[in-house]
Amino acid sequence: MHLELFAVNVPVRPFALLFIGVFWTTAGSAAQADDAPKDPRADESSLRKNRPDTPTYYADVLPILQKRCQDCHHPGEVAPFSLLTYEQAKKRAHDLADVVEDHKMPPWPASTTTGGPFRDARILSKAEIETLTEWAEAGAPEGLASAGPPPRKFDDEWPLGKPDLVLKPDDAYTVGAEGRDEYRVFVISTGLKEGKWIRAVDYKPGNRRVVHHLLGAFDTRGAAKAKDLADPKPGYEVFGGFGVLPSGTLGGWAPGKTAHFEADSVGRYLPAGSDVLIQIHYHKSGKPESDQTAIGLYFARKPVDKLLRGAIVRPPTQSLFSRPQLIIPAGVANYETRGSFNLPYDAHLIGITPHMHLLGKDFLLTALRPDGSRLNLIKIDQWNFNWQLNYELEHPIALPKGTKIELLAHFDNSASNPNNPNSPPREVRWGEQTTDEMCIGFLQLTRDDEHLHNQAPARFLRPAAKLDRVN
Ligand code: HEC
Repeated sequence: MHLELFAVNVPVRPFALLFIGVFWTTAGSAAQADDAPKDPRADESSLRKNRPDTPTYYADVLPILQKRCQDCHHPGEVAPFSLLTYEQAKKRAHDLADVVEDHKMPPWPASTTTGGPFRDARILSKAEIETLTEWAEAGAPEGLASAGPPPRKFDDEWPLGKPDLVLKPDDAYTVGAEGRDEYRVFVISTGLKEGKWIRAVDYKPGNRRVVHHLLGAFDTRGAAKAKDLADPKPGYEVFGGFGVLPSGTLGGWAPGKTAHFEADSVGRYLPAGSDVLIQIHYHKSGKPESDQTAIGLYFARKPVDKLLRGAIVRPPTQSLFSRPQLIIPAGVANYETRGSFNLPYDAHLIGITPHMHLLGKDFLLTALRPDGSRLNLIKIDQWNFNWQLNYELEHPIALPKGTKIELLAHFDNSASNPNNPNSPPREVRWGEQTTDEMCIGFLQLTRDDEHLHNQAPARFLRPAAKLDRVN
C-alpha cells in the first residue's frame, strides 16, 4: 500500500519520513462534522450593507483588530508593526483593507468553505472585511473612544495554569540580526524516570519578536541529542523538519493558537528517558535577538484509554524501503501528485498538518467513505511555506474502517514561481533539503476500539531501538 500508518512511537525504518510536524490536539466531544462547514463569510444576514452608518475606528474597527490582528500585531510580537492605536491603524487603513480582502491577513492558508471547520480559525466574516474596507474608503474616521472596547490585555502566563513539568534548553540561542529565516531544533532531556500520559502541551516562546511558529516532538533513541552534540551552538539546524525521525509528536504553537486539554480519555504518551525536541522557525527582526523557548507539560489526572495516534498520507513508494515517488520536472508549473491511505479501523480524526516545501502550490485531503460518500477534510488553495499550521478540527470527525483518505496536491517548478529555490529550475525529488520537496498529510486520530485502561501503549514497553540514522 502507498501509505504507512504509524503510531505515536514510530519504529525506526531507514525509508521513513524525515519530518513529523504533527501537532496533537484536544479531542472534544466526538461528533460528525458537517459535509458543508459553515463559512462565516457567507453569512449574508450580517453584511455591512444592511447597516447604513459609516464605520468608525473605536466602534467598528478596533474590535476586529483586537480579535483578529493584535495577537501578532503588538509590540514584542512577530508582526513588523503594531495595530493597537488609532494612529497606527489610520496610517495603514488602506493596507489593512487590502490584506483582508485578499485573505493575506490574518495568516490562515486553509479554505474557509471546504474542509474543517477548525478550531481557532483565523477567519474574518464578510461583514468584518466590509467594515475595514468602508472605513478606509471613508477616510478612516476615529469616532468616539467611549464607543470602543477597553484595550486588550496580553498576558504572558500559562493559560492552562502551572504545568506539571516545564522544560527549556540549557542555553539561550542567539538569532542574528538579518538574513534568511532559520529552522532550528533544540533537544531537552526530560529526565523522566517513568513514562507519563500527557493531557496538554503548551509552549512559551522565549522571544516573540523572532519565534514565528514552532513544532514539538520527542525522541527515545538519542538521535537528536547526537545531532545537538555535533553542533557547537545550542540545538542544530534543519529545514522545516526535525532532521531525525521523532518517536512521536508534541503539538506546536503559532501566535494566536491556544493550548487545550485533551478529552478525558485521550492522551499522548511520553516514555521514560525521552528527549523533548522543539523545532523553531525564526524570523529575523533586524537586531540580534536571544531566545530560550519553554515547553510546559500537563500530566493526565484521569486514566487514559486512547492514544493520540499519527497517520500519514503521501505519494506512493516503490518498495517498502524507498522514498515516496515524487519527481517534479524542471519548468513544470502545475505538477500533480496523489496519495491515499486506507483506514484500517474505525477512528476519529482530530487534526491535520499539511506539509510541503517551497514549490508547493495547493493541497487537498478528502475522505472517501465505504458507503461512497466523500468528505472534504482540508483544502489549501495557495500553499504558504511560511505558515505551516496544524489544523485542529472543531469536532473530531468519525471515519469508519475502510475509509480511503486521498491526497491531491500540485507543485510549481517553473521559473515564474518566486519561491523556486533553483534558478534556473531543475528536477526536484523527495528529500529534506530546501531544494527538495515533500508532500505529506499528517493526521492525528484516535482508534475507536482502543481501551488502554491507562496502560502504557505496547510499543513503548519494548526497549528503544539503538541510535539510528535516518538522513
Ligand atoms: C499570526 C500572526 C498574524 C496575525 C493574526 C495577523 N498578522 Fe498581519 N502580519 C504578520 C506578519 C508576520 C507579517 C509580516 C509579513 C509576513 O510574514 O507575512 C504581517 C504583515 C501584515 C501587513 C503588511 C503586509 C505586507 O504584505 O507586508 C499588514 C497590512 C497586516 N499584516 C495586517 C494584518 C491585519 C489587518 C490583521 C488582522 C485582520 C493581521 N495582519 C493579522 C502576522 C500576523
